[in-house]
Amino acid sequence: MTGRRVIVTGVPGVGKTTVVTGALKLLEEEGISYKSLNFGTYMFETAVAQGLVRDRDEMRKLPGDAQKRLQQAAARAMAQEEGNLLIDTHASVKTPRGFLAGLPEWVLRELMPDTIILVETDPDQILMRRLSDETRTRDREGSGAIADHQTFNRAIAAAYSMLTGCTIRYITNADHLLDLAVREMADVLR
Ligand code: AP5
Repeated sequence: MTGRRVIVTGVPGVGKTTVVTGALKLLEEEGISYKSLNFGTYMFETAVAQGLVRDRDEMRKLPGDAQKRLQQAAARAMAQEEGNLLIDTHASVKTPRGFLAGLPEWVLRELMPDTIILVETDPDQILMRRLSDETRTRDREGSGAIADHQTFNRAIAAAYSMLTGCTIRYITNADHLLDLAVREMADVLR
């Protein structure tokens, strides 16, 4: 294994992909490069090839065993990558049967991250971002449920740290303060 492995998580619509894109652009200007891998895309490509889903938002509704098999295949494929890796994924996924660990032990064993970043913000802001994003089929839930999900993610991230020895970093991506979140993420990646 070469390079650093950083995992970026956050509830859907918090803006993790937006912050990652900004941070990687900043670092590129300094000659620091990371390979950006989207866990959901790896899972989705396998799920489509197997005829399981047509839309990435259908994946979290699949039976638990199917989601776990897709997780494992995605983690194995990503573990083959060399260099500095930035993996965009979820600390937990809200399924109809409850929270599914996004990074269970068999996924962490493959990826062995140095750091896990949790991108967070005020639940009302996340709700507004979800409502204005027409490109995705977001779950309908209120800000109380979004707050619960963020709390659960902090708890499960502590367990991931216990399993791997990785550090856990919270980054706030507040409305009108995207630049601050981008700079904070770049600092973690340097
Ligand atoms: P994925 O594609 O990662 O879905 P997602 O969580 O919905 O992620 P998005 O990329 O859509 O949201 P985001 O938080 O990155 O927000 P964005 O930057 O777009 O995963 C798809 C699926 O894969 C999951 O549902 C799951 O089924 C599966 N999956 C993935 N990992 C898994 C795992 N480990 N185990 C099991 N299943 C897994 O921004 C959202 C909006 O907010 C944008 O409009 C943006 O312009 C706006 N915005 C962002 N920042 C700001 C700001 N500071 N101020 C104002 N607006 C902002």
